[in-house]
Amino acid sequence: MHKQVSGLDATPTIGRAPETHTRVIAVSSGKGGVGKTNVVASWAVALGRMGRRVLVLDADLGLGNLDVLLGLVPCRTIEHALSGVCTLKEICLQGPAGIQVLPASSGVPHLTSLTDSQQVVIQEQLEELATGMDVLLIDTGAGISPNVTFFASSAHEIVIVVTPEPTSLTDAYALIKVLTQRYRERRFKVLVNLAKGPREAAEVFRKLDAAVDRFLHAIVEPIGYVPQDDYVPLAVMRQKAVADLFPDAPASQAFARLARQVLQWPLPTLPKSSVQLLWQKMIRLA
Ligand SMILES: Nc1ncnc2c1ncn2[C@@H]1O[C@H](COP(=O)(O)OP(=O)(O)O)[C@@H](O)[C@H]1O
Ligand SMILES: [Mg+2]
Repeated sequence: MHKQVSGLDATPTIGRAPETHTRVIAVSSGKGGVGKTNVVASWAVALGRMGRRVLVLDADLGLGNLDVLLGLVPCRTIEHALSGVCTLKEICLQGPAGIQVLPASSGVPHLTSLTDSQQVVIQEQLEELATGMDVLLIDTGAGISPNVTFFASSAHEIVIVVTPEPTSLTDAYALIKVLTQRYRERRFKVLVNLAKGPREAAEVFRKLDAAVDRFLHAIVEPIGYVPQDDYVPLAVMRQKAVADLFPDAPASQAFARLARQVLQWPLPTLPKSSVQLLWQKMIRLA
């Protein structure tokens, strides 16, 4: 178990200056169970092990389980921050490799669709918390619900997780369609999880790319794959991120590659502020 005190009070990872702007990365999927939460947890740990300052938001608000996966026991969650009992900063926990975690509640149906004012509360407090961080990783949950599309469209980069299952591809396509047509997102990064190897991963990406290219005005870009790896469920059973418990496992090596890769992505020139977000929303609704 990790400390239950506010992770933000802990000494941040030392040894390097923070980036100018925080990279905000949403990890989404059309279909549930494709490995988003494991991806977010281990990607964050891999970045933490490289000395980067990482904040992780569990935005699967009604059914959050990132805390369970990391063996954390939160006293308060985003639900409490939204009801005004405390701030987001006060619910932040310290996880493995120095990562900071904002835990969500589980079994809270009314949080599955945030109101506009709740979105603003989260946006404003997140902006403050993310200042000085290198990366903010958001586990958005699955599907095309307003929460998923809100968090995805708030991020600089949207990473869509897919698996070789055909249903995962059709659902990923549906999510990209909604984000393209209703939120005017144009660029998506695609991570193939649970692939047998590079060939299968390339084939999965090719299928999605062909459909998106043909029917949507959007661009998908492959960022690699995570292999099907028995060490992942083993780590889940022990309530640890695989990159934490088995750093040499094949999946962990993939997460280390992803962590190195993300630091090569162009830095965002502007943070997506809440004002900008509201403005974008007004344009979309017009
Ligand atoms: N690369 C992988 N290899 C083997 N099992 C995996 C891998 N990624 C995820 N899993 C398994 O898939 C299940 C769902 O993962 P999870 O991260 O909870 O998905 P999601 O957050 O998308 O619902 C978990 O039981 C996990 O052990
Ligand atoms: Mg999940």
